[in-house]
Amino acid sequence: MPEAAIDEHRDPLLGEDDIGPDGAARGQPHRQVNPEPETVRVQGGSDRSLRARIPAPVCLHDPPTALWHPLPAGSASRSPALAANLRGLMPTVCDERQLMPEATAPAAADLDWNFLRTKNPPSEDSSGVQVIDLFSSLGGLTFGAFEGLRRKGRSARLGLAVDSEPAALRVFRATLAGAERRYACADLSAVLAHVADRTRAEERALVAPVARGSSLLLAGPPCQGHSALNNHTRHDDPRNDLYLAVARVARLIEPRAVVVENVQGIGSDRRSAAQLCRAALEELGYEVTARRLDLSRIGVPQTRIRHVLVATQDAEFKWELPELPKRDLRWAIKDLLDLEGKTHLDSPPNPTPANQQRMDWLFEHGEFDLPNALRPVCHQSDHSYRSMYGRLRWDRPAQTLTSGFGSMGQGRYVHPLRRRTLTPHEAARLQCLPDFVAMRVEKRRTLLATMIGNAAPPLLAARMVEALIDQRLL
Ligand SMILES: C[S@@+](CC[C@H](N)C(=O)[O-])C[C@H]1O[C@@H](n2cnc3c(N)ncnc32)[C@H](O)[C@@H]1O
Repeated sequence: MPEAAIDEHRDPLLGEDDIGPDGAARGQPHRQVNPEPETVRVQGGSDRSLRARIPAPVCLHDPPTALWHPLPAGSASRSPALAANLRGLMPTVCDERQLMPEATAPAAADLDWNFLRTKNPPSEDSSGVQVIDLFSSLGGLTFGAFEGLRRKGRSARLGLAVDSEPAALRVFRATLAGAERRYACADLSAVLAHVADRTRAEERALVAPVARGSSLLLAGPPCQGHSALNNHTRHDDPRNDLYLAVARVARLIEPRAVVVENVQGIGSDRRSAAQLCRAALEELGYEVTARRLDLSRIGVPQTRIRHVLVATQDAEFKWELPELPKRDLRWAIKDLLDLEGKTHLDSPPNPTPANQQRMDWLFEHGEFDLPNALRPVCHQSDHSYRSMYGRLRWDRPAQTLTSGFGSMGQGRYVHPLRRRTLTPHEAARLQCLPDFVAMRVEKRRTLLATMIGNAAPPLLAARMVEALIDQRLL
């Protein structure tokens, strides 16, 4: 089930102040760009001893704040409490009809438009901010952080990227290059322990390339356990506990700031992974805050809502992000029409004859939704799947993109102007993955689709990093 159009879904744990640069979701309904119904079911769960080590789960709900106001400077002093806590822990070693005027043609100065089309990977600087990326995949968060730092006149270097999927790390390394040891193919469940427990040799070995101190820790823990697409074990999946590895690594490397991205369903996690991670970070002395963000409001051409947690040493992060007009498919992928079929990245998968007929029907009738009668019988009864077999609109953001973007039956993935589904390149653009990401090195379509669908849009990390710098928290 696609995760789109979830604006109306309120997570009881997160409350009403969690979405949107203008705070519209804080008690006021905000306009849905592409309203489609969605059913969200919550299933039961069990418990685990690891979690029992942390006192009372804290609610992720933060009190309402004046979001998105002009940026005041934040506190610059480092937290004595954090330093003391870390010291204290050490002893334990611890269609054509759509061809309308260019409504969103990019201005020359549109930094984001240029960023997405950049062919040259970012350069690194050994004295720049050290970036550590857990569950890095191909590096979406890292590339966004580098861009945010660059826009603020700061340089960056990759300290460490960890993921258990070698194919994703190959793409990351082919993009940024540099020392092999910075790309660790490892299972992060090896760093699952209570934040105050004695550190183990394998953990210290994992973070050995990282210099302690002024650094940025990024993480995108696997989200299958929370995903609205996962109907079976949703909200009670042991993989959700991996979120806790973030606090453990923070303990080991003492980053100045931590940014964790996840699906919005993390707030319904019966295993309370995010809450426990927050409590653990607070135990280390960090100031922690969390929000759900509608990424279409910060420049991502997609209605993607994400849960973002920020931990900082010096003062609590303020959610002061610029609100941008919504960006549409034309903004993101129009230039790629000229590349169609030129490489494997610019080629859609071959549809089944039945799906080709369905696409033909949409175009011949000028429609964007496929009538029930034309769907496979198994998809005819549930109207919550309305976007499936649908065609995207040129003048709207895409719906939440998943790894199923090559299949009509997995969401609204038919190109607005072509009788085909999206190409990997187009899907990457909608995820804001810039052209410099070396996805060309991966020829296996399924792996490629997984990496693209899994990615955290780099523009999210860029915005967060810019705000952290403005608030002198990084
Ligand atoms: C949501 S994706 C991260 C996306 C990434 N932040 C980006 O921006 O491209 C989650 C990643 O966690 C990795 N993963 C899953 N289980 C893991 C484990 N036990 N240890 C390390 N990585 C794991 C997956 O291979 C996947 O690449």
